[in-house]
Amino acid sequence: MKRKDLFPTPVWTIDNCGVKTDEMVEFCHHVKDEDPDGRKSSNLGGWQSWDFRPEVLKQNPLKPLYDDIMRYCYAAADDMGFQEYTLRMTNLWININKRNDFNVIHTHPGAVLSGVYYLSLPDCCSGDLTFQRDPKDQHLREFWGCSDNFDRFNEVIADEYDMYPEEDKLIIFPAHLPHRVNQSASDGERISISFNVTAFSNYYHEIYPNNQPDRTKLSL
Ligand SMILES: [Fe+2]
Repeated sequence: MKRKDLFPTPVWTIDNCGVKTDEMVEFCHHVKDEDPDGRKSSNLGGWQSWDFRPEVLKQNPLKPLYDDIMRYCYAAADDMGFQEYTLRMTNLWININKRNDFNVIHTHPGAVLSGVYYLSLPDCCSGDLTFQRDPKDQHLREFWGCSDNFDRFNEVIADEYDMYPEEDKLIIFPAHLPHRVNQSASDGERISISFNVTAFSNYYHEIYPNNQPDRTKLSL
């Protein structure tokens, strides 16, 4: 008997990117000092910056990270089967969590790939990143209910998967994949950097040539 796993969900991890610098950590603290309120989004507690755009990133201490993110996102998109495409980072932001801070379950609408880079972490227990299977796909686990005679934790049927953060590690995942950050049990700072990347077809201008920029005048 053969088994074929249909519709797998890729998650890419890169250990030891080698881009972390004291200057990056300093920069994150500086941004927080300048804007102590930050933005409220999926974070409950914790501090989150507003968005950085690529054109700004290219001129600040996060540039080496931006370059690495784009390089690895191209590798991930190639791996997914993209062809003749261009990636563009839409936004990147800084998260600083401390004890009891967490991020509720969410997705990143409008992006193709999303991810997180762990810049600076306390020694332990600062909150795993948990991916969650779409609730509509959890019927088997819900039906069986207990794990006495059913392995609910193998990757084929598990409804959640935890990844623990490590300094200088980059994780890239499909933007539609629900995820959360678990509560930090550490007094130390957990500094992570999140981002969204979208994709454009290189054939776009062949479909809408430059000499016909006004699409309202195109007829079917
Ligand atoms: Fe997220």
